[in-house]
Amino acid sequence: MLGVCYYPEHWPEERWAKDARRMRDMGISHVRIGEFAWSRLELERDCFDFAWLDRAMDTLANAGLKIVLGTPTATPPKWLVDAHPDILPYDEHGQVRGFGSRRHSTFSSRTWWRESARIVEKVSQRYGHHPGLVGWQTDNEYGCHDTTMSWGEEDRKAFAEWLRRRYQGIDQLNAAWGNVFWSMELRSFEDVALSCRTVTEPNPAARHDFWRFHSDQIADFDRMQCDILRKNSPGRWITHNFMGFISDFDHFKVGDNLDLASWDSYPIGFVEKFPFSEVERNRWAETSHPDIAAYHHDLYRSVGRGRFWVMEQQPGPVNWAKWNPVPKPGMVRLWTWEALAHGAEVVSYFRWRQADFAQEQHHAGLNLPGSDELSVGGREAAETARELADVGTLPDSRKAPVALVFDYPTHWATSIQPQGADFRYEELSFRWYEAIRRLGLDVDFVRPGGNLRGYKLVLVPCMMQVDEASLRALQDADGLVMLGPRSGSRDRHFRIPSGLPPGPLSALTGTRVTQVASLRPGLQDKVTGALSGAAIRWREYVEAATEMLAHFDNGDPALTRKENVFSLHCWPDETLLADMMDMLVQEAKLETVSLPAHVRLRRRGDLIFAFNYGPDSWSVPEGIRLILGSSEVAAQDLAIWRA
Ligand code: GAL
Repeated sequence: MLGVCYYPEHWPEERWAKDARRMRDMGISHVRIGEFAWSRLELERDCFDFAWLDRAMDTLANAGLKIVLGTPTATPPKWLVDAHPDILPYDEHGQVRGFGSRRHSTFSSRTWWRESARIVEKVSQRYGHHPGLVGWQTDNEYGCHDTTMSWGEEDRKAFAEWLRRRYQGIDQLNAAWGNVFWSMELRSFEDVALSCRTVTEPNPAARHDFWRFHSDQIADFDRMQCDILRKNSPGRWITHNFMGFISDFDHFKVGDNLDLASWDSYPIGFVEKFPFSEVERNRWAETSHPDIAAYHHDLYRSVGRGRFWVMEQQPGPVNWAKWNPVPKPGMVRLWTWEALAHGAEVVSYFRWRQADFAQEQHHAGLNLPGSDELSVGGREAAETARELADVGTLPDSRKAPVALVFDYPTHWATSIQPQGADFRYEELSFRWYEAIRRLGLDVDFVRPGGNLRGYKLVLVPCMMQVDEASLRALQDADGLVMLGPRSGSRDRHFRIPSGLPPGPLSALTGTRVTQVASLRPGLQDKVTGALSGAAIRWREYVEAATEMLAHFDNGDPALTRKENVFSLHCWPDETLLADMMDMLVQEAKLETVSLPAHVRLRRRGDLIFAFNYGPDSWSVPEGIRLILGSSEVAAQDLAIWRA
């Protein structure tokens, strides 16, 4: 099904009915509204104006559209900021981040919680039972614009409280963080300082706890909203729209509050954000990289425990990346089908009409700026709607053969202590995903501690802190497990584990890491044996009381195996990574298809989808019966057949 993001408050009321009718006529069934409308809903404190939204909701519902209503807490209005400046966030340099765009609030402020609860209460009381309303979106893109953390006095106080609850006494905290180092010992929780603006590196344990604290706050803030929505609006589901590559808070924990996950897919925008080489960036500039959207679809299917939407789909050029090309013809259609192939229930475009005012004037919509004329993306969306109607209901997604364990705290830990400037966890995890997807396999993301049974292959690109649940899940895995570098290298308090890394994983791996080296660009260490290629960026010095499958030049283990658990002791270059995946899929007896860099497959139930990001065409396997497309899949096109 298809949806669209709509802002009735941006357009004269006379246009709403026609907009709604045109949405329906082009095959759109869902519309998301309201998430930035606080200043129009509450003009001054306690001075509410719901009349316009009543009429907008009725107009949309009367046209047969199903409505998703956003809570407006991403945009605190001016009167609120003026009355309560303590809600404003602070950047790491101690500067207040002011009014004039959005997300100008800190999750640490009690005032902010109270005010948010108040508006969510009001809006949900008013619309909780509206016949057109099917679901709620909490807030909008938590953490976007670098807003997970804030560094002001409100944050310091809330952090100190969080630490008090967690450590009980200051001696425990001093011991856990190792504050004897550099005389950092604190006398009481009042002494807790923000670990920013320090002369040199702050204590990584303090920094990691600060990150966890902020992540917990977002999950709690979201739960507060969900509780109110569930009370006032029974029978409606709740989601949140996560933003791609914003991993500053634990999306799995927010997902626990929700009925389904959703995310905002800007595949071309992300090409500028992800650390691709310039060569890759140019190659994928107008289509996006074929794993960018897919990676997130698989992640959010897991965050939503099997259920997810794309709440915002890029419909043309965006305005916020460094450069913003027009997508190649066909890409809006391809991205839409791809999301559905990965299990999305609804793909909803951002936005209905391009705005001819304010910050996002250069952001495409399904309609041209201020007009009722479909854009290129709008026409592709309409074409996709017609195809969807022909193909009919899509079957449910099945469990994939491969699991990838994704761990937010590892992203934080490696960002705090990279040790090599290019050790980027998300990049590692993306590259492992890409390498296995090149073999035509489907992947499920699994949270740390999630059930790994039934997967033929479990990939753990890196998991720095391994808690009991994660350890148990890995012990219980009945397929092959592949552990990447730095796994088990820190304990819960950011210490090197006693007995050395991989700490709690040692019994599974039969290894002990005695030294680590980060390798500057240009340096590499050759790997030979069962695999060949090179270590780049990172290499470990390992003692192995188990089988060594590949080694570095000096004979040290590069890849080891103990029973079903493999360990890779480096950051693999492309050749080594591809070789490693080949070896693993053979060992796991997985059926694979070797795909070119620009083609990907995905199964949904008994349907198989092929997506061609171009520029060359690709031939589907012989002897199949196509449901959509042709046997020669052109660039920026797709094909569907039955397995
Ligand atoms: C998203 C956001 C939308 C809009 C969009 C533009 O991150 O949720 O409100 O700003 O980006 O691409």
